[in-house]
Amino acid sequence: MTPKIQVTKRPVMSLRAKATILFLFDGEKAPRALAQSDLRQVAGVLERRQFKAAPGSTVVLETGSGRSLRTLVIAGLGKANEVDVECAHLAAAAAIRVAQGLKASTIAAELPLAGMEQAMVEGYLAGLYRFDRYLSDKQAKAFHPAKLVLATEAGAAAKRAAARAEIVADSMNVARDLVNEVPRELQPVSYVKEIRSLFRGSGVSVKVFDQKQLRSMRMHSLLQVGVGSVVPPRVVHLVYKPQRKRAKRVALVGKGVTFDAGGYNLKGTGNIETMKCDMAGSAAVVGAMLAVARLGLKVEVHGVVGLVENLVSGKAYKPGDVLHTRRGKTVEVNNTDAEGRLVLADLLDYASTVIKPSAMIDLATLTGACVVALGTMASAAMSNDDELRGELVEAAARAGEKLWPMPLYKEYKEQLKSSIADMKNTGSRWGGSITAGLFLQEFVGEGIPWVHMDIAGPAFAEKPHPFWGVGGTGAGVATLVEYLSAL
Ligand code: BES
Ligand code: MN
Ligand code: ZN
Repeated sequence: MTPKIQVTKRPVMSLRAKATILFLFDGEKAPRALAQSDLRQVAGVLERRQFKAAPGSTVVLETGSGRSLRTLVIAGLGKANEVDVECAHLAAAAAIRVAQGLKASTIAAELPLAGMEQAMVEGYLAGLYRFDRYLSDKQAKAFHPAKLVLATEAGAAAKRAAARAEIVADSMNVARDLVNEVPRELQPVSYVKEIRSLFRGSGVSVKVFDQKQLRSMRMHSLLQVGVGSVVPPRVVHLVYKPQRKRAKRVALVGKGVTFDAGGYNLKGTGNIETMKCDMAGSAAVVGAMLAVARLGLKVEVHGVVGLVENLVSGKAYKPGDVLHTRRGKTVEVNNTDAEGRLVLADLLDYASTVIKPSAMIDLATLTGACVVALGTMASAAMSNDDELRGELVEAAARAGEKLWPMPLYKEYKEQLKSSIADMKNTGSRWGGSITAGLFLQEFVGEGIPWVHMDIAGPAFAEKPHPFWGVGGTGAGVATLVEYLSAL
């Protein structure tokens, strides 16, 4: 439920609204948009409250009186020469959260940063997101402002930026909804239903493969991960074709483990609680495909997601089993909790051989080791192609996401040697993200530039953040959209 967005060249203080969002740079005494009469009063309040204008900080105050009474939400932007997309996301999101908390039905807001209108609007719209489906108390549910009026001198450019931002934020919010949905409700089969309904009328075609088809497609590795669940695996292949045929064809591949209990290498308390998030890679692919279609991008894009539950049961696969991948390589399972790579192995081979893409990008909450390496805010980018990896890292920076290069040292491949099969699925504890990446690389078709994004850190926020929210974050969506838009 995004608010209706209006872009205007009128000064922000002339707009009628229940709350008005203004910004302050470090070192400024009061927002410049204020009239002379309010300026001194507001500067006084800000000084008394020792407001520092750090990015993400906010303060609420009232100015004027009678009919000109205004509720102001003032948000810090930090140092003017240090403002970047992440900062714009944070400040805009923090500010609108406060206005939302005040139950302001119409919000007037500044777009103070030239060239960052898209980031600001993304901040506003992503900041309003709440997952409140299961809250029975109406008061506790998110308040949805009806209208957001954006005041800027940028005119047409700002309108275009706002329209783009709405598409990106909507897509992120779809990904968040998918990640946040509880594991009883979001299982492979119900997920397919959800995907079908999301893409109805979008122009994106939706092909769904059930377990019988997956068997004839030889995706035995993916199938074995799901064999312990009563809900069978599915693979969904989404296709977006631009109006004019283009040489570039990108495949996006997503891990969609709707719940990762670990299998017989069962996860314990402390690790298992958030594992509904293990389909966040697939959610990012779904979100990005929605944006690609709505933006009408000029490149052909395929989205392939593998939807599987990794559980324990009398039928579940076991440590010691040997799996037959679609590629033909056999894999000894030495850990059933390293299931993501078993799912992706078949998807990467399918995408390589059937789609034959000019670039392939996979997204997966693949390893805890990646969270150890880069923390909860950053994803890792591993690749067989430095140029493509560079393009993605740069796209992430423009999109306001943290993506950092991680090497694929071939020396570590030795760790994946098995005495009874062509490979095993895990190496030692050290460098666990890299050996996971090296495993995946074995299933990437010859000559296909490929990037693996391990999003295990930022996919799911355990602590609330103004822009990323709490729970599913939609990590990866903005980066993919930014990368694809530049092609
Ligand atoms: N889904 C997990 C990785 C994960 C961890 C995602 C934390 C999000 C947050 C993955 O399937 C997994 O269990 N990986 C194992 C690999 C190990 C067995 C080599 C891990 O990281 O412990
Ligand atoms: Mn696992
Ligand atoms: Zn997993």
